[in-house]
This record gives sequence, C-alpha cells and structure tokens, in this order.
Amino acid sequence: MADRRSVLFTVIFTPIVLILLILGWQRGGLKNDEQLESPPPTTTTTTPPPAETGIIAPPSPPSHVNDPIVAGYFVNWGIYDRNYNVVDLQAEKLSHVLYAFANLNDDGTIVLGDPWADTDKHFPAEQTINKKADDWNESGENLYGNFKQLYLLKQKYRHLKVSLSVGGWSWSANFSTVASTPQKRIRFTETALSLVNNLGLDGIDIDWEMPKDDTEAASYVSLVKDLRIALGPDYLISVAVPCGPDDYKKLHLSEMAAQIDLFYLMAYDYAGAWDPVTGHQAALYGGSLNNDNAVNYYIKSGVPAEKIVLGIPAYGRAFSKTDQKPGSPFDGVPSGTWEAGSYDYRVLPRPGAVEHFDSEKVASYSYDPKNREFVTYDTPEAVKAKCEYALEKGLAGVMFWELSADAKTQDRSLLHTAYTTFNNQIHSTLNHIDYSSSQFQNIKSGM
Ligand SMILES: *[C@@H]1O[C@H](CO)[C@@H](O)[C@H](O)[C@H]1NC(C)=O
Ligand SMILES: *[C@@H]1O[C@H](CO)[C@@H](O)[C@H](O)[C@H]1NC(C)=O
Repeated sequence: MADRRSVLFTVIFTPIVLILLILGWQRGGLKNDEQLESPPPTTTTTTPPPAETGIIAPPSPPSHVNDPIVAGYFVNWGIYDRNYNVVDLQAEKLSHVLYAFANLNDDGTIVLGDPWADTDKHFPAEQTINKKADDWNESGENLYGNFKQLYLLKQKYRHLKVSLSVGGWSWSANFSTVASTPQKRIRFTETALSLVNNLGLDGIDIDWEMPKDDTEAASYVSLVKDLRIALGPDYLISVAVPCGPDDYKKLHLSEMAAQIDLFYLMAYDYAGAWDPVTGHQAALYGGSLNNDNAVNYYIKSGVPAEKIVLGIPAYGRAFSKTDQKPGSPFDGVPSGTWEAGSYDYRVLPRPGAVEHFDSEKVASYSYDPKNREFVTYDTPEAVKAKCEYALEKGLAGVMFWELSADAKTQDRSLLHTAYTTFNNQIHSTLNHIDYSSSQFQNIKSGM
C-alpha cells in the first residue's frame, strides 16, 4: 500500500513541480524583459490566424533571431585622443560589440590589453551610462573602466552582446604556441571563461592574424574546440578571418564552423601604401581581391552563410600624387588621422576632394584633383549596397572596424546606414546579465 501511494505521489507530484518550475522560470524571464529601459526596436507582427487543425500553434520563435547582425569593434585606445567612450556607442543600432584587444601570453593566459581603460578607470558622470560618476570609496572589489560601462549598457539594451577580442594584428605572436600545446590551451580556455564571468561578457572573439600553415590551422581548430567545451553552447565564439586567398585557403573552415558562431570577415585592406599602384581596399567585386570571392570561398568550404559577417572599413587608405583612376602609380602617402596613409572615415572626404562610386565593383573613393590625393573607403552608398548584398546572400550581417572612426551625423554615419538599410530591425536575442560568480561585487549583484 505504502509503496503504491508513494509511486502515485511521485507520478502526480513530479509533473506539477516541473510545471511550476517552468512557469517560475518563464516568469523570471518575463521579469527581465519588463526591466528593459529601451527595448530593441520591434517589428509590427501580425497575429497568425488560428490553426485550422485545432492543434495549438507552436510558440512563435523569439523575434529578430534571424534579423541581421550589426557588429562593431570598440577599441580600448579610443578613450584617449579619440575621446570615444562606451557612452558614445549607438547601442540601439548595434547587436554585437567586439572589444579590442586582449593580449595572449605564451603560457596561454589571456591578459587585458590596458587594465586602466578596461577595468580601472573611474568615469565622471557625463561619461557613464547611468549618469553617476564612478565612486572612489565603494566597499568591496568592484569593476570600473570600460567593462563596467558596457555592463550598464547591456542592462539598458538587452539585445546588445559584448565579446572580448583576443589578439589582433599586433598581439597574435603567441597564438601558435598556445594553440598547439594542450596545457596552454587549457590555460587559454580557463582564463577566457573567468574573463567572461568576471567582466559580464557574452563571448570571446579570436583575432589570430594569421595562421601561417596547415599545422597552425589544425591547432586553431583544437583551440576553438576546447574553448567551446569551456564556454558551453550559450556563449558566443567568433573569429576574425582574412579575405586574402593565400590566408583563407589555409584555414580548416568546416571544422572551425562546427564550433564557431560567427566569422567576421576582414573584408578590407586589399590596397594600401604597400602596393605599387592605387586600388580599391574593400571592393565587393572585380580586381584580384574582392569580398564576393572571399564570401563564396567561405560558403563553399563549409561555413554556413548565416555565420558569415561581412566586415566594412570605417577608414580610408590614401595615396599621394596620383591620378583619379584606380591602378595608377602614386608617390607616398599623406600623414593621415592617426597613422600615415590612413584616415578615419569621419574626416572623409578631405576638403576639396570629390566622392565617386563604382556601382559595378561596389567600391567608392575620393579624389582631389588639386593635390592629386586618392582615398579608397566606403561611403554610405557603398555600405548600403554591401548590406543589400549581405541580405541577398543570406549572410549574418555586417561588422565595422572600428566604431570611433564613424561619422557623427546621421546622413554620413556608416553604422546608421547599415541600420536603416536593414529597416531598423537588427538581431536581438537577449544578452547575458546574470553573473553570480563574478569576482566583482557590482557585477555579481547586477550593479
Ligand atoms: C607573448 O608572451 C609573452 C610572454 O608571456 C608576453 O610578454 C607578450 O606580451 C605576449 N604577446 C606578444 C604579442 O608577444
Ligand atoms: C565617499 O566619501 C565621501 C567623502 O568622504 C563621502 O561624502 C561619500 O558619502 C562617500 N561615499 C560612500 C559611498 O561611502
């Protein structure tokens, strides 16, 4: 008797407990949604007609999962001379922010690139998301710097996902040894996981420039496999990948694709001071290097189109003493905005220069007949065409390198152009917001 009763009890009671748990969990989720201060833009969805079969219609998928990604790199050196802070990010137009860069030690440890900027700086009220100056005498161990502001931004814009980008052009030297050594890979994944948990991040972006042979390409797969095991399925793993055939042909793309959520194509720098003649640095078609060739190669090699994000430069590459026609010899490069030969997009076109658009190649540039300066860069017209291309190809979306260089006015802003080309509807799955195991009190308690 007693046995039957306990079996009955279990049979009846367990489902009830489960249902209550599920309901409670859903309510928790709803509560989070209700806290949205600025909800992501919504589509006007029409309610589907009741199913004729009488079967209850399956719940509709979360909105905007399939809407395009608009990603941008936030560079931590931007807070100095560029005076571009987290508070300047146009979060409503961005689905993903990639934080550049963390360095990689040769033992596998990921180390923050500029701890003062990343976690320590106390911002004055006008440079914070919540308009409260960072307090100097809060008790306990707390997070400050850009990552605190990014966490506040994530709370305000729940569609915004933030990943820490590791490596980059200057800090890729140790990838080779780390990726090829199991113990170092463990160190890599452990530090990746603790950075995600401590800083309140949504994922890790690997920017290894570039694996130089088949051995390194195989190690790259091992590295992302281990990272996926450490981070689990709910955190993002992305990679910044090359668009030059010599570089991308080395990669083991289908094996990488099994682990990686997003491939950010560095679809720029096809032309520059290193060349004998001028050229388009980011053309969609034509020439010996172009975006379309790279995209097609990645798809053909097993990277699903919906994991491919097309990179767009927010800078120009400039050439002095040359003719208007691309392919002309030049003599030197101008001093640029921050480095020789390169201008931030926001200062383009230069005074006196005229913008041109080659609609066949989908490439834009400016030319100044007086000082004979040629600058290859993407205008709003080019960005619009690239976003339309991304939609036609079924790509995940577009990415900008890098956000501080974009124009401030809407009619010139490349980010705004992408956002409006996507009809103001961008990818908006919820970010992570609960970090109960963070070492930082304020992140742990949700500020
Ligand atoms: C590589 O590792 C060494 C030793 O840990 C470190 O000093 C260096 O900053 C790392 N990164 C690069 C790009 O050399
Ligand atoms: C920090 O110190 C100042 C000056 O001593 C004081 O006025 C303020 O209330 C303190 N803030 C906190 C959070 O303790």
